[in-house]
This record gives sequence, C-alpha cells and structure tokens, in this order.
Amino acid sequence: MSGLRVTGWGTALPDRVVTNAELAETLDTSDEWIVERTGISERRVGGTTSELAIAAGRAALAKAGLEGSDIDVLLLATTTGDRIVPATAPTVQDALGITGGAVDLNAACSGFVYGLVMANGLLATGARRILLIGAETLSKITDWSDRSNAILFGDGAGALVIEATDGEGDLLGWDLGSDGSVTHILKCEHQGTIEMDGKEVFRRAVRVMVDSSRASLAKAGLDVGDIDLIVPHQANLRIIHSACQKLGIEPERASIVIDRYGNTSSASIPLALVDAIDSGRVTSGDTLLLTGFGAGMTWASAVLRWSR
Ligand code: ACO
Repeated sequence: MSGLRVTGWGTALPDRVVTNAELAETLDTSDEWIVERTGISERRVGGTTSELAIAAGRAALAKAGLEGSDIDVLLLATTTGDRIVPATAPTVQDALGITGGAVDLNAACSGFVYGLVMANGLLATGARRILLIGAETLSKITDWSDRSNAILFGDGAGALVIEATDGEGDLLGWDLGSDGSVTHILKCEHQGTIEMDGKEVFRRAVRVMVDSSRASLAKAGLDVGDIDLIVPHQANLRIIHSACQKLGIEPERASIVIDRYGNTSSASIPLALVDAIDSGRVTSGDTLLLTGFGAGMTWASAVLRWSR
C-alpha cells in the first residue's frame, strides 16, 4: 500500500500589484469598503496561467531536489487555461521536461484539494511522483467595470511535489462534493466574465466548508481540536472567519493570504499553504485542514499530516 507525502512546494505571482486605491480610481468603491467587506487590500495581476504554473512548478521541483523527468503525472488545477483546447498542462509539462502524463482539472476553487485526493489515488495505483499545481489568471475573466466582482479576484499559482510513501501516508481523511443544481449562482460562459450572486454564494460557502471539514475530520478519526492550522480557500475573510467560528477554530489558526492576493481560485489554497510553511507556521507532525468551495458548486476538504 502506498500513500502520499509532500516533498516540495513553490509559488509564483505576477509582479504587478493592483491596490484597492487603484481600483477606486475607476470604480465607485473605496479601500475602506473593500477591506471591511472582503479582507482584501491588494491583488496581483498579469502573465498567463501556463507561465505562472511553470514558475510555481519549477520552484516546487527545486525544493524537492527533483527534475521534471522524475514526475509521473502533472495535475494542473485551473479554471483559466491558456485556451480551451488543448489543455494547459501539456504546455507546462513540456516546459518543465516532464515525460509522464499531464492533465488539467477544473473543480473551480475546490480544484487543488480535488487534485490532492486524485494524486493519492494515482500513487495507490503505481505512480511514484506527482506534480500538483493550482494556477489561475482570473483577471482575464473579470469584468473590471463591475465593482461587485473586480475587487475580488487576482492571479497566481502554487504547487506541491507529492511522492509515494509506504503505508497509509499523510492524507488522513478527505471529502469531495458537488451540487450542479446551483450552477447559476456562480459561473462564466464562453467569452464571458464571472457572474455571481454574491450573497447566495457566501451563504452556501460557509455551510459547505463547515460540513465538508467535519466529514473529512470524521474520516480521519480526528476532531477540530487536533487541527494545528486550517488552510481555507481565500474568497472572503468574512467567509473564513464565519466558517472557523462555526467549526470552533480560532481565527489565529487560519492561514490568510487574501489580504495580499485576493481570490485566486485553484491557486488560493496552495498559496496559503506555502505562505504558512515559509513563515514557519507549519512544523513536522502538524495536522492541517485544507478546505475549499467553488463554482459548480463544488467543495473539497482534506486532513493532511505534515511530515517534512
Ligand atoms: N464598493 C462599494 N460598495 C459596493 C461594492 C464595492 N466594491 N460592491 C457592492 N457594493 C454595494 C452594493 O451595491 C450594495 O449597495 P446597496 O445596499 O445600496 O444596494 C451594498 O454594497 C451591499 O452589497 P452586498 O452585495 O450586500 O455586499 P456584501 O456584503 O454581500 O459583499 C461580496 C459582497 C463581497 C461580493 C460578498 O457577497 C461575497 O464575498 N460573496 C462571496 C463571493 C465569493 O465567494 N465568490 C466566489 C468566487 S470563486 C470563483 O469561482 C472564482
């Protein structure tokens, strides 16, 4: 039996910073409103999804001491591929010298945690090393003239190298879910921009994050008191705080990057995870709860032991 172990991590962000004050130059909004209602102060904008994914993947491979040719499968979680066909993963595979398989997966903002669970399945059936990347250029599908949307989104990427280990590994429990009956509350049609019913998304987001977190903890045989750090999808600081409160997790136990990066969909959980690792908030033996929700709706949670 093989499980997973994380052995490398990395991120990539565009250089261009767009502050709330800059948005307020063209939109009827203010830094004060955006910070108070969302927790966002600035976001990064620029590049292509493949460029960001390649940079984050390269950093994660370097951290793991591996070459692209060591990777059996590249999983790229994204909603904003460079084009519709072909997928973006082959572009990244080629740039990184990966000789194994490469595929995009789209579960909106839940995509990275879906990918983590799928990586675990690939390792259980014979793969030895997976590169999992979440990368987005949401700026390309944002209506920059709509103040209720433009303030929320940003671009970025985060990546993990995941290797097989004997035994059950570090993925202790997981929960994946989907409800396609509410597609209309959050969507982007071909050639369109993101449309959403913000209040409805907010209400459902808190509920599914809480339920999904509890389901993954139950599968791991743990409870919230065992969690050292929660790494939630970064859509709105008030969603994160509300979910933490309902779960009984102090907000100080949450990794937060939304203030700097906004909502980066598939990239937000790896960006928050790597930020916590790099700032020394994660130590060997810690138990992490990754939880997200997104368009679909989809939701996904994973309990991950950190053994690096
Ligand atoms: N600046 C100033 N005022 C604003 C702005 C703004 N940027 N945006 C909206 N307002 C106004 C509204 O027009 C409204 O005015 P009114 O009362 O005169 O009608 C008032 O502020 C309140 O608007 P609400 O929509 O009720 O504001 P709310 O507190 O719900 O915040 C927000 C809106 C931030 C969108 C929130 O609902 C939210 O975060 N929802 C979840 C969004 C989300 O998680 N999306 C996931 C996307 S993931 C993906 O797939 C990419």
